[in-house]
Amino acid sequence: MCGIVGYIGASQAAPILLDGLGKLEYRGYDSAGIAVYDGKKIQVKKAIGRLKVLSELTHDGATMPGTLGVGHTRWATHGAPSDLNAHPHYNKEETIAVVHNGIIENYLKLRKKLTEKGYEFRSETDTEVVAHLLDYYYKGDPLEAITKVMHRVEGSYALGILFREHPDRLYAARKDSPLIVGQGKDGNLIASDVPAVLKYTREVYFIRNEETAVLTTDGIAFYNMDGEEIVKNSTTIEWDLNAAEKGGYEHFMLKEMYEQPKTVQDTLKPRVKENTIEIEELSMTEEEIRSISRIHIVACGSAYHTGITAKYVFEGLARIPVEVDLASEFRYRNPILEEDALVLIVSQSGETADSLAALREAKGRGVKTLGIVNVVGSSIAREADKVMYTWAGPEIAVATTKAYSAQLIAQYLLALKFAQVRGRLTAEETAAMLGDLKKLPGQIEMLLANKERIQKFANRYIAAKDVFFIGRGIDYAISLEGSLKLKEISYIHSEAYAAGELKHGTISLIEEGTLVAAVVTQKDLYKKSMSNIVEVRTRGAFVLAVTNVDNTEMEKAADYVIYIPQTNPYFTNSLAIIPLQLFSYYVSVGKGCDVDKPRNLAKSVTVE
Ligand code: M6R
Repeated sequence: MCGIVGYIGASQAAPILLDGLGKLEYRGYDSAGIAVYDGKKIQVKKAIGRLKVLSELTHDGATMPGTLGVGHTRWATHGAPSDLNAHPHYNKEETIAVVHNGIIENYLKLRKKLTEKGYEFRSETDTEVVAHLLDYYYKGDPLEAITKVMHRVEGSYALGILFREHPDRLYAARKDSPLIVGQGKDGNLIASDVPAVLKYTREVYFIRNEETAVLTTDGIAFYNMDGEEIVKNSTTIEWDLNAAEKGGYEHFMLKEMYEQPKTVQDTLKPRVKENTIEIEELSMTEEEIRSISRIHIVACGSAYHTGITAKYVFEGLARIPVEVDLASEFRYRNPILEEDALVLIVSQSGETADSLAALREAKGRGVKTLGIVNVVGSSIAREADKVMYTWAGPEIAVATTKAYSAQLIAQYLLALKFAQVRGRLTAEETAAMLGDLKKLPGQIEMLLANKERIQKFANRYIAAKDVFFIGRGIDYAISLEGSLKLKEISYIHSEAYAAGELKHGTISLIEEGTLVAAVVTQKDLYKKSMSNIVEVRTRGAFVLAVTNVDNTEMEKAADYVIYIPQTNPYFTNSLAIIPLQLFSYYVSVGKGCDVDKPRNLAKSVTVE
């Protein structure tokens, strides 16, 4: 996720671009850049770090004359954060400048072809291929060149483009990445999101997939992929700026929960080709995969919970023994690390001090390490031998939701890959499981659509003192995360227990009306879990059950049932966690807590 802006009009462009980027910094903030055209030269300034570095460099834009320009705030995907990888990117003669949000999936192939034709690349980004491809196709008609590029590139993009030969035109194109056009009084704008234009206008047009836009100071025209003009109506934005930054959602956490279908899709799609799994960044030979003797998953908090789920998946599918450690424990417990072990460090931020220290410990002992990381170029991403990115984009809310979902997907894919290479899954079985994975985004959407029902239920529990989450196997891992979500944002005491363990002590805490959330998604454990539900109910508990759609027996066993759609039992976490996230969220909102910034917590824990 990155943010792009563009302006053409009567005012100086650079301050408007910087102001717009400031509203989009939540979309990425590892570097920023602007390109401004004064009719003679397209001047480009970029800087690694937060936007304020670029603002200082350009004296808030004052040093860049010109009334036409594009800008970008970056969340690195291809190539670490650096001045070179920052956008805008341009062709060799610096006559075409491009800003891009999205991922060009076939960029390696295109890069190779362009290199063979003599193009030289300055950055490691996927975006730079767009600049050179535009150069390749440009024969005087920008729209024609842009359309040709759109036919060649695969993946997602929102593009803002300047052509030196067209000083009175700003070009834009879109597929699968958001892009709007704002119609201002003294000029027109493009942006990844509404907040960037609200200061100048409330009249916006939404560009749809595979459409282009051409903006002049006083005109806006839209075209389809055949170059035919299309007519659009503008929408008047009623939200205030604060709501607009959150895409109209009340909190970042809610917005991020709603981004989960896309996050799952983005983490999955580049690694699934037809019915096979290709994890390029893993770069392990089949022989190396076959020789893995043990996997150690090391992480903190929610990332650790994904590791507990993954243990069941790796062991069940690939039959590789797995140990899961809290990073803060791993580093001091003198773990036994076999020569052929693989250490997975899972981290959204890539900066968690304990996880980083655990990584260094493993590396120091000569064991292979693989980071599953969200922030490109972060410490863990840089230091791990290999890194597999989760494509969740920036996560602002302290309580993780979408990054957690992406971490699960990354580990499912690894487990499937390992299982297939080690001869534990046939091609047909792999294809069927991939089919289930591909359905997850749609199923998550369905669960999110049920939010009102969960909100009503949550409102009954805003005064709760203790809540227990129980489950067996993968359901226990889901319970751990459900419980953490609730306590971190609602400050209600909550514990997760392996359902069979409750009677060894904790059950003494159950009294009349205590809420017990039971997660029951593992068919082979239905009966056992139902017995545990009976145990707590007879002691007065009110039982909320999250179970599979076919387990209608649950209506008799529990007091309140939430169903999740059918999927492979190894993947139920990705679905069952959604109502639990919503429950925590609405309890927190009902109590009036600071949902996005709960007390005592930080997004990235960089101290021991
Ligand atoms: O950035 P990381 O994934 O390494 O962070 C790990 C934990 O600090 C994090 O998951 C934390 O538990 C979240 N607040 C949970 O919502």
